[in-house]
Amino acid sequence: MPIIHNKEGNEFHLYNNKISYIIRELPNRQMGQVYFGKRVRHRESYADMINNSCRPISSNPVAKDPNFSLEFARQEYPAFGTSDFREPAYEIIQRNGSHIMEFVFDSFRIIQGKPETEGLPHSYVENKNEAWTLEICMTDHLTGVKLVMFYSIYENAAVIVRSVRFINTGSETVCLKRAMSMSLDISDSDYEWLQFSGAWGRERTPFIRDLEKSGVTMIESMRGHSSSQHNPFVILKRKNTTEDEGEAFGFNLVYSGNFMTLADSDTFDHLRLMMGINPRNFCWNLEPDTEFQTPEVIITYTRNGLNELSGSIHDFLRSRVARGYWRDRTRPVVLNNWEATGMDFTEESILQIAKKGAEAGIELFVLDDGWFGSRKEESGLGDWFPDRSKLPGGLKGLSEKIHAMGMKFGIWIEPEMGNPDSELYRQHPEYVLRTPSRNKSLGRNQLVLDFSDPEVVEHIFNSLSTAFDGVGIDYIKWDMNASVTECYSAHWPAEKQGEVYHRYMLGVYSLYEKMTAAYPQVLFESCASGGCRFDAGMLYYAPQAWCSDDTDAIERIKIQYGSSYGYPVSSFGAHVSAVPNQQTGRSVSLKTRGNTAFFGAFGYEMDLTKLSDEEFRQVREQIRFVKEYREVLQKGRFYRLGSPFEKDIAAWMSVSDDQKLAIVGVYIIKTNVNMGFRQIKLKGLNPSFDYEINGKEIQGGDILMEYGLTPQIAAEYPKVPYVSPARTIEISGEYDSKIYVLNSDGDSRPQ
Ligand code: DGJ
Repeated sequence: MPIIHNKEGNEFHLYNNKISYIIRELPNRQMGQVYFGKRVRHRESYADMINNSCRPISSNPVAKDPNFSLEFARQEYPAFGTSDFREPAYEIIQRNGSHIMEFVFDSFRIIQGKPETEGLPHSYVENKNEAWTLEICMTDHLTGVKLVMFYSIYENAAVIVRSVRFINTGSETVCLKRAMSMSLDISDSDYEWLQFSGAWGRERTPFIRDLEKSGVTMIESMRGHSSSQHNPFVILKRKNTTEDEGEAFGFNLVYSGNFMTLADSDTFDHLRLMMGINPRNFCWNLEPDTEFQTPEVIITYTRNGLNELSGSIHDFLRSRVARGYWRDRTRPVVLNNWEATGMDFTEESILQIAKKGAEAGIELFVLDDGWFGSRKEESGLGDWFPDRSKLPGGLKGLSEKIHAMGMKFGIWIEPEMGNPDSELYRQHPEYVLRTPSRNKSLGRNQLVLDFSDPEVVEHIFNSLSTAFDGVGIDYIKWDMNASVTECYSAHWPAEKQGEVYHRYMLGVYSLYEKMTAAYPQVLFESCASGGCRFDAGMLYYAPQAWCSDDTDAIERIKIQYGSSYGYPVSSFGAHVSAVPNQQTGRSVSLKTRGNTAFFGAFGYEMDLTKLSDEEFRQVREQIRFVKEYREVLQKGRFYRLGSPFEKDIAAWMSVSDDQKLAIVGVYIIKTNVNMGFRQIKLKGLNPSFDYEINGKEIQGGDILMEYGLTPQIAAEYPKVPYVSPARTIEISGEYDSKIYVLNSDGDSRPQ
């Protein structure tokens, strides 16, 4: 069993062949952190690995034990105010105003598999043998509140999944002011913090920060969604950790609402990392006989660099968080009309674009915003019935025509919102989140519906299913374009207003649950003004997400590159759009636009009828390429080779499981005249295989990985009369790119 219990000291060792996670009861009967890292052999006792020392002016919670203080003890779920003065994992206010709790060890359970987390997205098992779960129950005897800490370890993943549940078995309601999903005390603080931040249109840019020394490093969202400002995923890495070497921890929060993650480094060089629902504006009334379950955090560990860390995260999110019919299927090639028409279309104009798509080999046509109610920029949102002036045959009429062209049919929705100018709002003004007697801010002319109220969720589900039943919908793009402001729900009493942000998310998840159950074979793509709610929680319901509204290929290289640290390529909605690009005004070749979107759930976001014959031929060729190679592009092992944030040439690659096929993408982000020679060292190949490169040259896997691929770049050769290139130029200047397909027969060549 990969969880061993040492009775002496009440120690638990969770392990697999990659990692060990060891915890132990502390002198005050709270649980302490002993070790988390590379697998170590089991011992009968880890007592010597607990910090014990008598420090001046430390407070000591255990009488006559001056060596023990929570101020420097490494803990599993720390409290405030009982001799620890660092960031606490929880805060509970009791009726007498006290914030002090004393959770002490009560009991434990080790179970095969992993229990479901009802109402929240979560990781899962398909077979009980693949994971084990440790549940430790702690009790605060004064209030009767119990704290259950969950730890799951999978047989083959360098991953620990943590969450906690508070259960009130007492007779008084208490207020949960803070309930983080996990807290981990690491034995030294010599790490860097890598966060993925940005804004609309430039989501998930990697930022390395030095940790505050003796202080707190923090990111959060208070927007009601996980946000493009900060992603709920962070990495802790050693300063010398690279893509290929060194230690790192990854933390993915499986949640899509307000979150906070912080690292508190203390004066004794420990580092406390915690993650969970943002405690600001949060106050959950834990009534007697009720429970509160936190979202999960997926903690990943490596000693072998960031590419390996990301690979473990990709495998885990793709196979044990994403679910359903489309989880393991390669994704259809999409044509979406948004950048082609906006909301200004007729059935006729849509059919013309779709027809051209069918000729090009498109497999799924998606009708974006504008098909319903009296939809305009400022009206109609919330009215989920077709606008007959645009679609005379309704959705069914259009769907039949699209299907008759041999394509699947997809549709856009934004179920969490309504315009003030909509039938929905006129009939149900009480359905929106707004603070009484206060101004209401609008985002994109719209109001956020009160999904904390189950009646609102049910109403929207009924209107969507009335619109979709029998229509033949194959794909749904679920958008969300306004942050939550003036958050207040008319449905809940005053004392429960601190629950509304979280209840809103529970409502969103419950609608996703209803929709995915009602339409089990529909492919869902989540979206929030592009990538403003791109997180592991969303992946549980929608296996792909629209990465960004910025479709400029060069910007997309950055966004997809940044996203790849914490999320799998199969989850990147990535489309080729028209030039000049609508967001940046930049014109990049169709080739580079395709070469970028290949590494994702591929599609087009443009009017294909406007292409020249030559461009259309290229589009057909791109689609043929994706169909031939999408298995490896979307599901292969992905490696970052060169960062567009740091280098003038960016590169990445995907390798098949059997290592016989690899696709490499090389992109010139910036040209310098007479630039240096480049060696792009590939990864994940088999060193003993020989690879044919683009059907021509043959190179050994060892040379390709150790010496590298050496593209001939035009900018190395300024046009001067006495220089003629020794080799054929492969990449010719700024924003040019090249795809290399590497094929091997799989026979090993001796050294
Ligand atoms: C924002 C999305 O990100 C776009 O792709 C598009 O669907 C628009 N909303 C439609 O309003």
